Amino acid sequence: MAKMIINADNKIDDLKFQTESGITETIDDNYESLFHFPSNSSNIEQLSNNENNSYEELKEVLNLVDLKEFVENFQLCELKKTSKNTVFSDGNSKSKLMFIGEAPGQQEDLEGKPFVGKSGKLLDKILSFINLDRGNIYITNILPWRPPGNRTPTEEELKICFPIVEKHIEIMNPSIIVLVGSVSSKSILKTKLGITKIRGEWHEYLKGDIIIPCLPIFHPAYLLRRPEQKSLVWKDALLLKEKIQSLKGGIIHDD
Ligand code: URA
Repeated sequence: MAKMIINADNKIDDLKFQTESGITETIDDNYESLFHFPSNSSNIEQLSNNENNSYEELKEVLNLVDLKEFVENFQLCELKKTSKNTVFSDGNSKSKLMFIGEAPGQQEDLEGKPFVGKSGKLLDKILSFINLDRGNIYITNILPWRPPGNRTPTEEELKICFPIVEKHIEIMNPSIIVLVGSVSSKSILKTKLGITKIRGEWHEYLKGDIIIPCLPIFHPAYLLRRPEQKSLVWKDALLLKEKIQSLKGGIIHDD
């Protein structure tokens, strides 16, 4: 396994080695800036010229069926061209518990479903520890398309797709969001702090009048590389269990 604490003199070489080895997350906040890619595309301009940082057509989207169709027809993200499938979501659309990961990997791209590969299997194990499964949670990703070779998504890709995940949250109206991994946590919480700093505590997703408690957890792909960190995710699972127990009327919306 590649070392995550990198010698400062060899940052670029180390980083190349790590990304080629399939590592998709930093655990040392000092290296964050190395993962930021320049963004100068017209797609970004199109988005930032836009009043609400969203897409006009998204205003008309009011349910999951329409959002899925919007995503399947979305042409502004280059990742779509290199992926085999659009990966929209899995699980129970009536759940009050929404998990948001980073982006599909190879298996997810093949099957068109989030978290079905090795890290998905570990996530399922973590969920089962607190009596959760795809029948009572809802799960999606920040990006609906696989970055080639599972590289870290660029800033541009994240910006372009962000209005989609915002809309997804608005439609789902979850009572709790679990942010799976660093990329998802940083995007949703709009923070530069790494996952090691923010996991283990509740945070808030804020958008207009919407305030939703969010729990950032380690990405299972990271835990597969660093199994000694697994005990922390079990602790986080217990935090989640406690929060679920405080929900009135269980974790499935009645309507
Ligand atoms: N990793 C993610 O963040 N999402 C997936 O769907 C699969 C792996």
